[in-house]
Amino acid sequence: MNTTLLDRLRTELDERRVTTGLRRDLVVSGAQGPTLGVDGETLVNLASNDYLGLAADPEVLESAQRALRDMGLGVAAGRVLSGTRDVHRRLEASIAELAGTEDAVLYGSCFDANLGVFNALLGPDDVVVSDALNHASLIDGIRLARARRFVFAHADLDDLERRLAESADARHRLIVTDGVFSMDGDIAALPRLCELAWRYDAALLVDDSHATGVLGATGAGTAEHFGLTGRVDVLTGTLGKALGGAAGGFAAGPREMVETLRQVSRPYIFTNAMAPPLAVAALTAIRIARGRPELRERLAANTARLRGALLDFGYEVLPGEHPIIPVMLRGGSVARDVAAALRHEGVLAFALTHPVVPAGEERIRLQVSASHTPEQLDLAAGAFDRARGVLARA
Ligand SMILES: Cc1ncc(COP(=O)(O)O)c(C=O)c1O
Repeated sequence: MNTTLLDRLRTELDERRVTTGLRRDLVVSGAQGPTLGVDGETLVNLASNDYLGLAADPEVLESAQRALRDMGLGVAAGRVLSGTRDVHRRLEASIAELAGTEDAVLYGSCFDANLGVFNALLGPDDVVVSDALNHASLIDGIRLARARRFVFAHADLDDLERRLAESADARHRLIVTDGVFSMDGDIAALPRLCELAWRYDAALLVDDSHATGVLGATGAGTAEHFGLTGRVDVLTGTLGKALGGAAGGFAAGPREMVETLRQVSRPYIFTNAMAPPLAVAALTAIRIARGRPELRERLAANTARLRGALLDFGYEVLPGEHPIIPVMLRGGSVARDVAAALRHEGVLAFALTHPVVPAGEERIRLQVSASHTPEQLDLAAGAFDRARGVLARA
């Protein structure tokens, strides 16, 4: 390799090692579930997005196995060449039905969907107004668009309104928000966002990755949660969290919008089609997610149980109802030390520290699943109780 490039990378890695430390991926053994195997230990898993527990659902797994046998692993072609199978079409129809939209289009991931929508739908005469805490994939997708860009302070809809008022000369204005924000677990204020979109003749894009399957009576997401199904212009989401946890993303909305994406969206056109077993697994997961509201009831009960216990033990927990539970452990390395203490007690949870979150906002983010048993959640809460010694020493 070119030595000047290699030297620069070496220097930057050395600096990073000193400043933020280098990320090291945890290697997990065995299948995704309410517990995970790590280094020969079985840990209670509070660090996955498998909110409904469908990643280990026997029906989901059997349907994927049948598809593997009948259709093979992959299609070795893009959707616009020979890669489209009947199951891709059926999955798109099923996503649209779940979301209450006219149509939907699949991507390899929600990251890809977010990279693909802005460039396809907007041009230089348009304006994007984006929440400051939107997911990295939205930020990158917006960068790829030729539109003008404004960022409004997180959840500050007065700031959003100012930006909308400032951009009255735009051909289109597109408001962009996560449905549920992954760091705080807070839900976007969709009623007021819809009202502002209507008042300023703006379109609204919601990335519902953490809400699809989780929020709303049928798991349709943030819009259904607020009784606003059909009011979001562009909905993006993932199949890699509540809907089976494998991989895949989508954009859903009006027929013409989805057709435009099929015609011009680069991460849809210039990549391999989703592997059929994954598409079949997602179809099964959507059927289960819609048909078994008791999974969402169990998820809500599990979330309330763990939240309540942490509050009883005196922890600062950001308010909310989503299964993302941010336990605030502000300053220094407290969050990391508590995460290490939890691990010692058989609980897997990650500390989020600077620069992932602002200094002073350090936390452990817990993610609850419908598949956790009360005993597993109580074990986790007990581990937090015993970790209070770490706080005392901090
Ligand atoms: C809000 C949000 N959008 C998009 C993504 C990316 O989803 P995918 O894993 O399907 O690329 C994530 C996952 O981290 C997310 O949290």
